Amino acid sequence: MDLFSSSPAAQRIAELIKLINDHNYSYYVLAQPSISDRDFDMLLRELQELENRNPHLVQADSPTQRVGSDLNSEFATVPHKRRMLSLSNAYTATELDEWHARHVKSLGHSQINYVCELKIDGLAISIFYKNGKYTQAVTRGDSTQGDDVTANVATLRSLRKELQGNYPDDFEIRGEIFIHRAGFEKLNNLRAAKGEMTYANPRNLASGSLKIKDTNEVAKRPLDITLYHLLGDNLGYTTHWEQLQAAASWGIKIAQTSKLCESMDQVKEFIALWDEKRKTLGFDTDGVVIKINELATQEELGFTAKSPRWAIAYKFETETVETTLLNVSYQVGRTGAITPVAELEPVHLLGTTVKRASLHNANEIERLDVRIGDFVYVEKGGEIIPKITGVNVAKRQAHLVPIVYPTHCPECASELVRYEGEAQHYCINELNCRPQIVGKLEHFVARKAMDINSIGSELLATLYDKNLVRVPADLYFLDKSKLLLLDRMGEKSAENILAGLQQSKNTPFHQVLFGLGIRYVGETVAKKLAAHFKNIDTIMSASQEELEAVDEIGTKIAESLSQHFAQEKNCQHIQVLKQLGLNMQAEEKEVLGNSLQGLIIVVSGTFASYSRDGIKETIELHGGKIGSSVSKNTDYLVAGDKIGPSKLQKAEQLGVKIISENEFNAIINA
Ligand code: IVH
Repeated sequence: MDLFSSSPAAQRIAELIKLINDHNYSYYVLAQPSISDRDFDMLLRELQELENRNPHLVQADSPTQRVGSDLNSEFATVPHKRRMLSLSNAYTATELDEWHARHVKSLGHSQINYVCELKIDGLAISIFYKNGKYTQAVTRGDSTQGDDVTANVATLRSLRKELQGNYPDDFEIRGEIFIHRAGFEKLNNLRAAKGEMTYANPRNLASGSLKIKDTNEVAKRPLDITLYHLLGDNLGYTTHWEQLQAAASWGIKIAQTSKLCESMDQVKEFIALWDEKRKTLGFDTDGVVIKINELATQEELGFTAKSPRWAIAYKFETETVETTLLNVSYQVGRTGAITPVAELEPVHLLGTTVKRASLHNANEIERLDVRIGDFVYVEKGGEIIPKITGVNVAKRQAHLVPIVYPTHCPECASELVRYEGEAQHYCINELNCRPQIVGKLEHFVARKAMDINSIGSELLATLYDKNLVRVPADLYFLDKSKLLLLDRMGEKSAENILAGLQQSKNTPFHQVLFGLGIRYVGETVAKKLAAHFKNIDTIMSASQEELEAVDEIGTKIAESLSQHFAQEKNCQHIQVLKQLGLNMQAEEKEVLGNSLQGLIIVVSGTFASYSRDGIKETIELHGGKIGSSVSKNTDYLVAGDKIGPSKLQKAEQLGVKIISENEFNAIINA
């Protein structure tokens, strides 16, 4: 326990960090968002404000000190020439006024021109042009380095590849890649018809599309781009607005909706106008970005750790509509988790028709006291599928009764269980409950797992119904004669299926591990486990403590792994997969040196030439081990920018050697 941890502020900070990290974990690792974007922002803000008031309590690993990461190991990672930051948010007119007032105060005058731009909900991209030709596209990544997606972005029709007019020789321009709602719905409908996984929203589809390895496939996705931020050395412009107009004159696609405003009143008019008009746009916008126009003023105000002071994102209120709850159905997922789904009288919400909404679990139904036949309020919050936020009790008819949560599985009729501390009900009949088995098979063949695209959901359901496949290993015992017995199965398709299975034996170990569908073992966790334990046998024999010693593996995941391997049938299944030739061993990482052999190193803060994961990887590649916190066993603390005072203090107290990034580089390069 450190010096400051007893104050109420310190306690709330610790609480907020835990909450935010848990939500991040649900979002990035479990891929099950547990909170709306807006509520997430509110937590982050509360933390930021507490930290502003108590700078001595800022922890180097606080979520306020880092930007989320979209890095994907399939693409080459390249450092950004200039950091790709995020924006701070405003939710009310008062917050905007306060933002403006801060500038007036620090600049000493009130004549500030702003450019208002729609905040398109897509993903940020950095594009480079040299001598008038498109040369490179990089995703935001972790803000210091991103994925090189040049070939994929080259497939966008709205991206100008050759410029016209009087362009600079060398510059960068940033913008947003997104998908129109019509394109999103068309593609999703096609996928649903083929039994493929559908995307939750246009943003997910856009970001998923950019990460496809096959450019021909990317070219089929209706991606669009708009560019909004010109960067370069000595470009010779004095305002942001001039830069946008210049880019347009070179043939680059900029937003036609942007406006130069001379006062905050004009900014507010722009917001009010687009809050209404956005519903007719055909693509999702979640706010307005307001930027100071004068480049010299931008420079004067500079940046915080995460965002520029000269720009802010005003977020639109989410729209609420009222509709009738027609019924509640219960879905069984591959893990046996039961999700209640609200069937709604179709209603229009922000440009799409909403027919269903998640009710999450029994607690949520109880909390809302929602009844079939009720008029309910439905909202769309950021990333998340529509949700029911309340009931119009005034309109409730007297005869409506509370929902009685089912006690038995809607699919296999076995009794549902609820584990202690969990909100979800589960069907534990995993060996005989159809959606669980088919769901596990779908998960196994999915792109991020075994990546067998010749096998779709429909085929898996048929294979199950015909009693040909029960567990993933059964797939590898299929042969042409068995496949040809299926309806509408031709020679060519059967060959493709078998070739896909054969090919899948080359899939890297971490994907095989992910494909096993062990509860809480998402993509990231599988990667961590594979990197740490190297092969399946070591993972299977690891103790709870050994599992928890791995970065990001907590009790919940460790317990789930132990439980999985405690079941004989699971171990046997893995043995069969191994004998069939699936990859159960991680590839050895290339070792760069042994200058850090046997040393335990803690890193903290931000670094000029590494991302947080990048420096950790470098340490491991030189034989070192990563320590999660400073202790008497720590050999070095590598102190980056904005390292928290408590870590430094602790290292000093314990006599741990503190080194800078440069000293670290000198050691590994020696
Ligand atoms: S400016 C340093 N302008 O919003 C300037 N961002 O929350 C940072 N975005 O990562 C970006 N429309 O992906 C800017 N007109 C716009 C934008 C915009 C959408 C996204 C962008 C950024 C995120 C920040």
